[in-house]
Amino acid sequence: MRLDIITCLPRLLESPFSDSILKRAQTKGLVEVHVHDLRDYATSKHKSTDDYAFGGGAGMVMMIEPIDACIACLKEQRNYDDIIYMSPDGELLNQSMANQLSLAKNLIILCGHYKGVDERVREHLITREISIGDYVLSGGEIAAAVLADSIIRLIPGVLSDESSALTDSFQDGLVAPPAYTRPAEYKGWKVPEVLLSGHEANIEKWRHEKAVERTKNRRPGQFGSDSDL
Ligand code: ADE
Repeated sequence: MRLDIITCLPRLLESPFSDSILKRAQTKGLVEVHVHDLRDYATSKHKSTDDYAFGGGAGMVMMIEPIDACIACLKEQRNYDDIIYMSPDGELLNQSMANQLSLAKNLIILCGHYKGVDERVREHLITREISIGDYVLSGGEIAAAVLADSIIRLIPGVLSDESSALTDSFQDGLVAPPAYTRPAEYKGWKVPEVLLSGHEANIEKWRHEKAVERTKNRRPGQFGSDSDL
């Protein structure tokens, strides 16, 4: 997979991709992440990428020209499955969207800032708008990193134990069951006996029951009816 992330603050995207799983995915050649500085596509004397809003009001608006130039340059080189704009009023990100996007070959992610982008970008250049939650961040970069992480970890071979992505919370409509490690007892707080029993079927049953219980408590009504669980 190739991810092209367009931003006016490229430094904000340095650290999320230079550590741990996201770094390893790139080193293994399973994903290429390219961050593009919108300023490199600005045509004005001062290399501006934003301007005052027509009609007045507080806040700057990201201009269409540099965004269009950057997207056009990328599209000349390859086809993209989606051109995504990170925005608080986009579709809410969930696991099934991440699963679907993890099958893509090439994706562009555009990060918004200030009062967002000129509406014509959304009307003519973008194929999809995604939000990571109903709250407003200072810009789309952190949201883009969240989206990228949720997608990249699902690409086969990225996680060393492939089954671990399949047992993530939400993959089967359930949140994950509790997990424990050594010591088996700490300050009198004990690990459930069944997990120490070595009885795989009982452990699986216990984990499923705990996942169902947690899902009912923490996401009531969200994952279908009780009979689905
Ligand atoms: N940009 C600002 N807030 C955002 C959010 N919640 N999701 C996606 N992009 C954003």
